[in-house]
Amino acid sequence: MTTNTNHGGDAPYLRRQGTATQLVVDGAPFLILGGELHNSSSSDLDYMQPIWERMTALNLNTLLAPVSWELIEPEEGHFDFKLVDGLLRDARSHGLRLILLWFGSWKNGMSSYVPVWVKRDTTRFPRARLGDKTAEVLSTLAEANWQADAHAFAALMAYLRRADADHHTVIMVQVENEVGVLGDSRDRSALAERAFAGPVPQNLIEHLVEHHAALGQEIRAAWEGSGASQSGAWAELFGATTATDELFMAWHYARYVDQVAAAGKAAYDLPLFVNAWLSHQRPEHGPGDWPSGGPLPHVLDLWLAGAPHIDILTPDIYEPNFEEWCQRYTRRGNPLFIPEMRPTEDGARNVFYAIGQHDAIGTSPFAVDSLPDPSTTPLARSYAFLQQVAPLVVAHQGQGAMAGFLLDLAHPKVTHQLGGYELEIALDQIFIFKAEIGYGLIIATGPDTFIGVGSGFKVTCRPLTPGPAIVGIAAVDEGIFRDGAWVPGRRLNGDENAQGIAWRFSDRGISIQQCSVYRYE
Ligand code: DGJ
Repeated sequence: MTTNTNHGGDAPYLRRQGTATQLVVDGAPFLILGGELHNSSSSDLDYMQPIWERMTALNLNTLLAPVSWELIEPEEGHFDFKLVDGLLRDARSHGLRLILLWFGSWKNGMSSYVPVWVKRDTTRFPRARLGDKTAEVLSTLAEANWQADAHAFAALMAYLRRADADHHTVIMVQVENEVGVLGDSRDRSALAERAFAGPVPQNLIEHLVEHHAALGQEIRAAWEGSGASQSGAWAELFGATTATDELFMAWHYARYVDQVAAAGKAAYDLPLFVNAWLSHQRPEHGPGDWPSGGPLPHVLDLWLAGAPHIDILTPDIYEPNFEEWCQRYTRRGNPLFIPEMRPTEDGARNVFYAIGQHDAIGTSPFAVDSLPDPSTTPLARSYAFLQQVAPLVVAHQGQGAMAGFLLDLAHPKVTHQLGGYELEIALDQIFIFKAEIGYGLIIATGPDTFIGVGSGFKVTCRPLTPGPAIVGIAAVDEGIFRDGAWVPGRRLNGDENAQGIAWRFSDRGISIQQCSVYRYE
């Protein structure tokens, strides 16, 4: 992670709190409750007009909106920021922050968003060769390609600095979108063939040596296959496999994107991230079935080595095993931010897990502008509750005081140690209540006191410190946070806490509850 240098800390920046990384906006940690637009929506300010209110009805605080190279530099050296300017103006008037997505050299592996003057000049801007074909994909190996992209990206960032450094409407920027080659495991252009046959760069080898014990298991095993050799060609160091092709591509994408990011940061130092199209977990699939070289978990080390100006490597999680992907993206200090995920009911549950369990900087389901009747969606409901507890969440990030969880019939219970107790959190199946889905987060907010938010679970506690062995419920209150202050509502007792036996969250809706416990023998 780089530190913010050119704004004396005023521009949004990342900082550590305990084991967590926080995004600081206007001097305070900010939890992104985001959503991402369809790819083409933000290319027309008029088209966007009815969308803004729909986004506030969804309870978003941040909108992720594409900005493309083709529209800001339609002619070489002639920049047009009218669209960006309009997005800033309209976001501000709706009280929304923006994360801009730089659709530059690549978008989903392809180079469809580069300006037409780049598309047409395949001599000056060399393409990748995939299999025996040239595709509409810029090669990572050509300096002219990254130079032109970096020039445009720096112009965008310089514009943002001029237009937004006093407002902080834009809080982060994504560089490119889901990079990687598809249809082959690596670029086979002449430039790429030469680099692949040449020595593995010394700065990558130094990184591997320095972080040997912390490397991901796949790259570590591949490298140790050559006795962790410190010189040689790619296939000599890591084996003659398509997995090595992917390492090669990851390094070259990381280097390319890093030079674009460095130019942007020099103009305006905002947190930058890249996103990944995840691999399918099917044995018959290999690199090239997913974008080979993108920032996937099994090549994360290459990206950390090659792209120091990128602050966060992020997953676009459409796959069902949400928890596993979150875990795989929180290695080696990489903070969790999810720029794309499903905008569905399960997505609306998963946000609790990412934020509660992994101190996520934020979450952002995709295609939020096409959700019908946004204010009634599961996502709007989840965000309404998370917005209330956001100050508590950021205050407790990185300190072992918060847990998030997802429960279903196949995984009906988890345990977490919080506030000196072991909490057993299980599906709320008591009396006639038979929750089949549970989710939420719990924060240990003070001695013997917890705040929970979620649905369909019950909690029992066991002490972890010396003293009386039995834990009783002192009191449970349902409530809301109004402007950050706790406003208690119903006292929950009787059936609502199983006569003092369990802290319960009905699956009929989401609730926020405060529970205090005591010990006896
Ligand atoms: C992932 C991409 O990053 C998005 O821009 C969009 O193309 C979605 N896939 C489509 O599902």
